[in-house]
Amino acid sequence: MDWMSTQRFDVAPQESSPRRSARIGELQEQVATLLPRLRIAVIFGGSKAAEGAVINQTVNSRSWKSYEAVANDIAAALQRLGCGQVLVVPEDMRLGERLKQEDVHLAWLNSGGVQGYSPVAHAPAMLEMLGLPYIGHDPLTAASLDNKLAFKRQIKAAGIPTAPFLGWHPASGPLDPARNEAFQRVFAGWTGGFVVKPVSGRASLNVMFAESQEALPELVEHIFLATHNQVLIETFLPGREYCVAVCGPVIARGRALDRLGEAFAFAEVERVLDPDERIFTSMDKRPITRDRVRPLNAAEDDADAPVRRGLRNLGRRVFADLALETLVRLDVRANEHGELFVLEANPKPDLKAPEGQVTSLICAGLEEQSMDYDDLILSLLADRLDRLFSHRRGAAHQLLALAGPAGELLQTGVHDGS
Ligand SMILES: Nc1ncnc2c1ncn2[C@@H]1O[C@H](COP(=O)(O)OP(=O)(O)OP(=O)(O)O)[C@@H](O)[C@H]1O
Ligand SMILES: [Mg+2]
Repeated sequence: MDWMSTQRFDVAPQESSPRRSARIGELQEQVATLLPRLRIAVIFGGSKAAEGAVINQTVNSRSWKSYEAVANDIAAALQRLGCGQVLVVPEDMRLGERLKQEDVHLAWLNSGGVQGYSPVAHAPAMLEMLGLPYIGHDPLTAASLDNKLAFKRQIKAAGIPTAPFLGWHPASGPLDPARNEAFQRVFAGWTGGFVVKPVSGRASLNVMFAESQEALPELVEHIFLATHNQVLIETFLPGREYCVAVCGPVIARGRALDRLGEAFAFAEVERVLDPDERIFTSMDKRPITRDRVRPLNAAEDDADAPVRRGLRNLGRRVFADLALETLVRLDVRANEHGELFVLEANPKPDLKAPEGQVTSLICAGLEEQSMDYDDLILSLLADRLDRLFSHRRGAAHQLLALAGPAGELLQTGVHDGS
């Protein structure tokens, strides 16, 4: 715990009020005490085909990926930060049993689910039922962020700009744009192209461009057959494409904690499109390399400045209006006038540790913040602990005990009087 013992009181004083400094100092102490005692499980998406994973195999309404490699990156960072014990475990029907056997105190969700509908919500729902705290969105938030139709309805209601959209499901009959009243109402007067995509998707899979409304019926059928779920139709935004990450206000720089006055918006990057690339190519087909991600210039007099401000504002607005509690990455695209529109909020953004030329959209923006990968992982952990200790103590008895002097008693089992 070298970094904690040397930087225990290394709280950025210039940005903090005395009260805020006191709380962050206390939190830094709590984290330093807790970490070596903590058993944490990083959870990735189990395969439904694995022996004993599920009772019945069903469909994947969201294209499945295990995310195990990224779970290992997160676990390695937690180990370097001094976590007492770090396990990497698959989400499947044995998860609860496994967490109990291993006496896990805290889970880190890095799973898109195993199968079925709203799969991103299954693990947090299970952990809520088990009474285990976790780093990740609560089940309702996870499901509504991962469903682009539900998400867009929410941000539209909050007045956050997003492309006009319509959901379609074959249960309401074949799509006939020329006769469909809702279609005509939503897209009245629109002469540009459309984008058709799964309501719950990832990595641009099954995201398609349609030149005109005549092409839509065939495309929506195709996506429905691939996903067995609603299909989203929206207007095509022809401008540049950007991302911004946003998470809670407790952050770590050089392993020293700080508490900002608002949500932390960072990693404002442009996803560089090739001249003929309408839909950003899936990372399953082409890795995210540094030439495809351009961190926006931080200088106030640079042409990037208004876009950076716009992205940061959008990030903070989504975080506040949807009452988010942990990291999301917003995907944003401009129209022909350069105005920004939110495409989606990824509830489990890629946290692959940077390696050579390959990076992730979020980690490409860390350097500018004077943060490294381990700082990001510590930020997400500390922010969650702060939230649990300040506002959700009822869900954090065990962690609170481990973070204080009583932790030793609890750990050795002396507390139960036996
Ligand atoms: N309305 C739109 N206008 C222009 N391009 C769009 C639109 N919607 C989606 N795209 C393109 O399709 C890509 C994938 O769309 P979206 O981000 O909604 O889905 P996704 O598959 O969840 O993406 P990912 O997981 O890669 O972030 C976007 O990065 C963008 O290039
Ligand atoms: Mg996206």
